[in-house]
Amino acid sequence: MSGPACCSNPPTLDPFSGVGHVEKLGGLDVYLTGSPLSTITILFVSDIYGYEAPIIRKLADRVAASGYYVVLPDYFNGDPFDPENLDRPLPIWIKQHHPDKGFKASQPIIEALKSKGISTIGAAGFCWGAKTVCELAKSNLSQVVVLAHPSSITVEDIDGVNIPIAILGAGLDTITPPEVIKQFERVLDAKSGVDSFVKIFPNVSHGWTLRYNTEDPEAVKAAEEAHQILLDWFNKYLK
Ligand SMILES: *[C@@H]1O[C@H](CO)[C@@H](O)[C@H](O)[C@H]1NC(C)=O
Ligand SMILES: *[C@@H]1O[C@H](CO)[C@@H](O)[C@H](O)[C@H]1NC(C)=O
Repeated sequence: MSGPACCSNPPTLDPFSGVGHVEKLGGLDVYLTGSPLSTITILFVSDIYGYEAPIIRKLADRVAASGYYVVLPDYFNGDPFDPENLDRPLPIWIKQHHPDKGFKASQPIIEALKSKGISTIGAAGFCWGAKTVCELAKSNLSQVVVLAHPSSITVEDIDGVNIPIAILGAGLDTITPPEVIKQFERVLDAKSGVDSFVKIFPNVSHGWTLRYNTEDPEAVKAAEEAHQILLDWFNKYLK
């Protein structure tokens, strides 16, 4: 996960964006949106830009509007990747915030949700967050997952998933290129009893569901199509 693929169209962070609110849950600050009375939660695991990015919050709000309680934690403890900090290029930031850390950090959040009476958990992981969501899927801590332009995921990881999984890849992705997404697809197709959906969006780059040029109608269309697939996948299994 390095190079410009992670760093085009970085978001302008806004701690006040979205219709939800921030509170502590399971030891982390989390953005919460939707009805706390819903017993179905969807955990969003962000990319390296974290939980104050307006587009991920907007997507969380949209998913919440379908009747879910959506939880978007700050896995980086106030320290998301900053592309303008030239003293800390991505490889150094990643050493401090390794994608492997997200799984452990998610467990107290899931415990806290369960103690509030939440029984069903979907999870969506974007880029950095895909590893965390894949681990949640492998350990059955989530019931249905979506991975968007994943990074740090191996074929073995995908082979360990036995719950419904949707993977959205980018045709121009250099981090998890289409060939690798197709390998994931073959592994999933070979599993009996595991429903999966894999789509490679042709003319988009890594990160396109969250970091797109909102002035470019083609980019907006591709992102919105991905958002709809994500929502439909959760609705199929959680409604
Ligand atoms: C997850 O659930 C599947 C299907 O019920 C089961 O085969 C698998 O062993 C479980 N994995 C773990 C880690 O509990
Ligand atoms: C590919 O995407 C770019 C950027 O969104 C867009 O300007 C261009 O029209 C697209 N090309 C095709 C063939 O769809």
